[in-house]
Amino acid sequence: MPGPELEEIKSRVDIVELIGRYIALKPSGQRFKGRCPFHPDDTPSLVVSPDKGLWHCFGCHAGGDAIGFLMKIERLSFPEALARLARELGIEVRVGEGKGKLLQANEQAVHYFASELRKPSGKKARDYLLGRGIGEGLWTRYKLGYAPAGWDGLLCALGRLGMDTLHSLGLVVSGEKGYYDRFRDRVMFTIGDDQGRPIAFAGRSFAGDPKYVNIPNTPLFTKGTVLYGLDLAREAIRSSGRAVLVEGYTDVISFQAAGIGETVSSMGTALTEAQARLIARHTDRVVIAYDRDVAGEASTLRGLVILRGAGLKVEVAVLPPGEDPDSLVRKHGAAAAKGVLDAALPFHRFLIESLARRHDVATAEGQEQALAEAKAFWPELRSIPLQHELARELARLLSLREEEVWRYLHEEFHWTLPNEDRERIGPEELFLHFLVEGKLPGRALEDLDVADFRPEYRPIVAKWVELRHGGRGPTTDELATELTPDQLSMMTRLALLDHHAPDEGQAIEDVVTKFLGLRLRRTLAEIEKRAREAEARGDVEEARRLFARHHALKKQDPLLKRR
Ligand code: UTP
Ligand code: MN
Repeated sequence: MPGPELEEIKSRVDIVELIGRYIALKPSGQRFKGRCPFHPDDTPSLVVSPDKGLWHCFGCHAGGDAIGFLMKIERLSFPEALARLARELGIEVRVGEGKGKLLQANEQAVHYFASELRKPSGKKARDYLLGRGIGEGLWTRYKLGYAPAGWDGLLCALGRLGMDTLHSLGLVVSGEKGYYDRFRDRVMFTIGDDQGRPIAFAGRSFAGDPKYVNIPNTPLFTKGTVLYGLDLAREAIRSSGRAVLVEGYTDVISFQAAGIGETVSSMGTALTEAQARLIARHTDRVVIAYDRDVAGEASTLRGLVILRGAGLKVEVAVLPPGEDPDSLVRKHGAAAAKGVLDAALPFHRFLIESLARRHDVATAEGQEQALAEAKAFWPELRSIPLQHELARELARLLSLREEEVWRYLHEEFHWTLPNEDRERIGPEELFLHFLVEGKLPGRALEDLDVADFRPEYRPIVAKWVELRHGGRGPTTDELATELTPDQLSMMTRLALLDHHAPDEGQAIEDVVTKFLGLRLRRTLAEIEKRAREAEARGDVEEARRLFARHHALKKQDPLLKRR
């Protein structure tokens, strides 16, 4: 469906009236509240904000816009929900035809990128692919291509399809001086639906950031609901009885080409619940083969919980340090890669090894951290023998009695549900609330760094930064088109946080001061730790430098300054 119609539907639909058809909504300040229809809800946990056009349930964390609500409650696809709203609003759209037309347009784009790859000017891209071991035989199978340098290659070649179409597919971007190509001088990857029809693209740079340019959410493609490579992997998943989950596009191509046909990618690091359910439709066993680096380990742990939540058996392949699946195949060959997969650890074994690697279990502090982390995984075990095994191995690792460990993990669990942590509303959450509302003052945005936020918030902050232009942040609507469903419900939660502040300006000042203070204290703690380490090593010079920096920075603490 062309963009302008989507905009019109979104702006004209009355979200309170729509949701009010399904549940009773009561006004509460600027918002409306009601009992969530998506989980048993005694307290009205669902909040609707008519001015933002968003809803969020603070009980089950579902949330989104009006279209998302209709999709969820009526179990409709995106185009179906749109069609229904359009009909009610008297907006004319031809949805069935529209989708076919969009798919055809994407087919044309595949041809365009493919032919550019084979032109003399595509030599750079050809050499790049060959240099990475992606031979010509794979170019057609994976619909690889090249987007030439310049601003209007695709625009000119496919202009006859209409700007509305190209724009709603995300192939062109609208700027101040009109439309221009989204992908410029990039190696192109095509993302297919489960039947292999092209629904989106990604472009890799030859060097420099960002490494990949991706398409926003479009009528054909919703981030976080698709697995790259699934169309080609379906048969192999069935015959091997498992899916192999990797992080990247090139990982899929290398693994599949090496005979590990059952490989799919979540396209980035944060696996979503929708992707986990998609895997569960095809198999009940998953081997995670994420990059062997710190980020990879963290996403493996998060992915574990999500995959277990979808009822899957999960194993973790431990790659050699520093490798990703693609480099593993290229350096060590297909047989070695298969060996690594076959030696994958059951997830509780991986958890123990990961805890042992990351915490200093010789200290009380390290033991506490390891225990607390293990407890977060406890509900995922859902099997008494497995729980005993984890308690036993954890006890051995920490040199504690098994009964003690068991008691800690088991009994205390009830009052430290992970949900409680998710419900936490601290300075960080409030800061993000005002960020997505576009209310933060300039001083708060100066050194906005994704790394200052908890991992689950980072994709939202990163997108916010990416979409900021001319000192203005994106609207919640603009942000929403770039987020996965999980990230979107996180965003609606932040956007609709209730803060009872009589004086909003003062509340914002306080939050900024607290957040910047928090950030500063984290930095100070880190510097102090490094200084002590330097001291212990006998590196007096470094220790002195770090302590001096600590001293200088400490003076900037906004809480200290105000006194
Ligand atoms: P990686 O950085 O591991 O890239 O990100 P890669 O796939 O291994 O790429 P090569 O082998 O270096 O060329 C893993 C995945 O994360 C997403 C992409 O889906 C990528 O395949 N990603 C990464 C992005 O969407 N944008 C980025 O800027 C980086
Ligand atoms: Mn990688």
